Amino acid sequence: MDPCRRKDTCSSANSWGVVVSHWDWEVAVDFPSKTLTCTATLDIRTLTDGVGSLILDCVGLVVSEVSSRESGESLAYQVKQLDGELTPCLDISLPSTCAKKGAELGVRISYKTDPALCAAVQWLEPSQTMGKKHPYLYTQCQAIHARSMLPCQDTPSVKSTFSAKVAVACELVALMGAERLGSEPHASNPTLTVFSFRQNVPIPSYLAALVVGALESKRIGPRSHVWCEKEMVEKAAWEFEETEKMLSAAEEVVGEYLWGQYDILVLPPSFAYGGMENPCLTFLSPSLLAGDRSLANVIAHELSHSWTGNLVTNENWEEFWMNEGFTTFLERRIAAKVFNEKERHLQASVGWNQMEDAIRSFEKQGKAHYTPLVPELKGLHPDDVFSCIPYEKGSSFLFFLETLLGGPGTLDGFLKAYIAKFRYGTVTTEQWKQFLLEYFHKEVSNGVLEEVEWEKWIREPGMPPLKPMFDTTLADASLALAEKWAAVQDISSTSQFSSDDITNMSSLALQYFLDVLKTKPPLSVQVLEAMEKTYSFNRTENAEIKYRWLRLCLRGRWSASYPLVIELLSKQGRMKYIVPLYRELCECGEEAKAMATATFTANEHFYQMMAAKKISDILKSSGCF
Ligand code: BES
Ligand code: ZN
Repeated sequence: MDPCRRKDTCSSANSWGVVVSHWDWEVAVDFPSKTLTCTATLDIRTLTDGVGSLILDCVGLVVSEVSSRESGESLAYQVKQLDGELTPCLDISLPSTCAKKGAELGVRISYKTDPALCAAVQWLEPSQTMGKKHPYLYTQCQAIHARSMLPCQDTPSVKSTFSAKVAVACELVALMGAERLGSEPHASNPTLTVFSFRQNVPIPSYLAALVVGALESKRIGPRSHVWCEKEMVEKAAWEFEETEKMLSAAEEVVGEYLWGQYDILVLPPSFAYGGMENPCLTFLSPSLLAGDRSLANVIAHELSHSWTGNLVTNENWEEFWMNEGFTTFLERRIAAKVFNEKERHLQASVGWNQMEDAIRSFEKQGKAHYTPLVPELKGLHPDDVFSCIPYEKGSSFLFFLETLLGGPGTLDGFLKAYIAKFRYGTVTTEQWKQFLLEYFHKEVSNGVLEEVEWEKWIREPGMPPLKPMFDTTLADASLALAEKWAAVQDISSTSQFSSDDITNMSSLALQYFLDVLKTKPPLSVQVLEAMEKTYSFNRTENAEIKYRWLRLCLRGRWSASYPLVIELLSKQGRMKYIVPLYRELCECGEEAKAMATATFTANEHFYQMMAAKKISDILKSSGCF
């Protein structure tokens, strides 16, 4: 039991000595007190001799009893905070029957969650839902919030199957990231329904997911439904109708889909992410309902995680790009199949620009150590280090390797073999690299991999050693138009522009246009006014375009746009949009800062806990409070 062997700096669990192979969860959901009352029974197996305790990650869990399932006897336990660890743990003494390697035991833990500390669960009042009648809750465990709702080995290096029974008020529906086994009336309380679930594919703790609400569904494919409040069902079903096409495209590249169902849940607007790849049930932000399917790449992304992430999982959070970089690469292979290769290149170009922006911004904040593909996380919280860098540097790296090895599709065979080799387990960058070098050994690859600057790509901070050759056909028009706007000196020259400029541009091409403008000196208020008159960005339903546009308006200090910014910040909690907008707003002077503070105060409990913390940190460092 050498503690130095523990690789995951984000977990206190002694998972080198003992692992949870299955967990069974009984949950009673109580909306008035915002608590989950639970019993978790963990099937554990020792990996070495002499393991005296089971150390689980836990945050804010009020434990009332721990016992052995086999003997019924109580097990001594203690909640403590170990030195140098990010969060507390639950230390359970194991009986002497566990002294030998290979011993098995069921450990039963009864506990309640603490609403003030349970970052995994977002509780919504009826007034915060579309139907306004029923309460709602959803969870978000990635990266390390599972421990605030379930005592667990909260490290992706451990995978377990699970079963669950969730009791909720009769008028509500519960779903989990699992196979749905049906529901029945509660045995002793006729006002409750109990929903049963089972996940037979072993998953890491961060993929545990639960949602409860007045949910309805509509079938959108042979293995897919959308789930959401009834007011949104039709719109969502239409928006995500291409799901099966994308699933089939993914299967061509990486092999059979092994999770049975692929359902989609559209959440209320406070959801902090665009999407979350919970197994069998992707969670999506309603901000993706653009009305024209233009944001469907997020579905391609989340379903791709069914292979890269959920089957083959990053060993720890330093290896996050093994999830996100690979998934972004796969997402764009799907775009190439469903749309075309040029579209894939445009997505990659937009991504590259975003990465450059993120790297420069970390550098400015003195956080260049957040920018390597594989950063060191010791002492750091993964939520703080999170950015698009592992996504974009990672997929650019794979794109570069693909080009080196022969062009589009040349990695497909490798990816299939990679998934087959590492599925149901975890992977590190080093293991992937070894497997890649074996697969493309010298005889098949003419030694081209020898020129790869592995260490620069993988370990060094800052921009990658080179930029892959992205085809610019679809980006050129956006670039040219942005250059023209940036060059405007005299406001009368804006008459050269017309709404026709953008009629043939896809939503992504528009994003590219706005991203280029962001790299230029701020546009003046008059130019922004002219742009609004010409293109009506204020009225767009596309959230990606809207937040980029508003960011430009803030940079130009166009105060007429502030109410629109505030409106967006009050209507939705997706961090990708609200974090940069709060940051920019805080740069716009004292009045704007006061608006930012007031908006945050009014919406603090609307945002997810982790998002609220991030924004409060931004406001603090801007001197707002
Ligand atoms: N797994 C991520 C979301 C995530 C990452 C949640 C880290 C918590 C911690 C998900 O797959 C994702 O990347 N979502 C993106 C969508 C995308 C198309 C890049 C998002 O939310 O914007
Ligand atoms: Zn992802």
